Amino acid sequence: MRLQDKTAIITGGANGIGKETAILFAQNGAKVILADFDEANGAAAVEELRALGAQAHFVKADVSSSEDAEQIVAAALEQFGRVDILVNNAGITRDGFLVKMEQEQWDRVIGINLTGVFLCTQAAAKVMMAQGSGVILNAASVVAQFGNVGQTNYAATKAGVVGMTKTWAKELGPKGVRVNAVAPGFVSTNMTDKVPEKVLDAMKLQTPLRRLGQPRDIANAYLFLASDEASFINGAVLAVDGGLSF
Ligand code: NAI
Repeated sequence: MRLQDKTAIITGGANGIGKETAILFAQNGAKVILADFDEANGAAAVEELRALGAQAHFVKADVSSSEDAEQIVAAALEQFGRVDILVNNAGITRDGFLVKMEQEQWDRVIGINLTGVFLCTQAAAKVMMAQGSGVILNAASVVAQFGNVGQTNYAATKAGVVGMTKTWAKELGPKGVRVNAVAPGFVSTNMTDKVPEKVLDAMKLQTPLRRLGQPRDIANAYLFLASDEASFINGAVLAVDGGLSF
């Protein structure tokens, strides 16, 4: 029960890593606001959290909209009266080689993975600063550091997330708010289902632990960073990638 009575917002919590993080947080005593634009899976995920005995609430939201970001935080305050943890997990890919990438592909990925993180953090940080405490956790990726063929847009957002994480660690730290990121390797979710099998096999071979990550591997890192055990960790980017990036 490492998050007993903490209120956590998890964006993109309807599927994959976000859903697993919501379940693990709920199992550790957190009250959860699950925000996603996938209404069907989001509502189903909230039912799963309630079945675990947790207080949970679904907000249909697109994190790339400033109104929706404000609405997510307002819902947390209305339901639970505080915002202790924000996990900026919502993210998409729209892959393509540089010379073939349409501006729509660029704009959508920047809008969700980068601007969405900025908007949700801006809304939550105001509340956390007033509380004098809070934890913000961002979804980075190994590709922030190493790049990846076909992911100009995605790599730019994840490198941007690392820069924002370090900036906010400095800005918000003095107000009692910690900001960290997790940089997963390749994790088995809907996102990687789109990647051809032979590319995934190559990724496994390059990973010293010779497997893809599971959503629980990443959720465990979020749980640790959200908990008081990480109370002196600020501005870190924790690689959870089976050794891929070393
Ligand atoms: P996923 O595709 O399984 O889940 C992403 C969730 O975000 C979905 O529920 C989707 O509906 C939601 N979402 C997308 N755009 C949204 C928006 N505008 N507003 C609200 N919700 C939105 O993806 P996965 O794999 O669970 O990824 C989660 C995060 O982890 C992403 O930020 C991703 O970039 C990052 N990541 C994933 C890796 C992987 O190998 N799966 C590796 C490194 C990072």
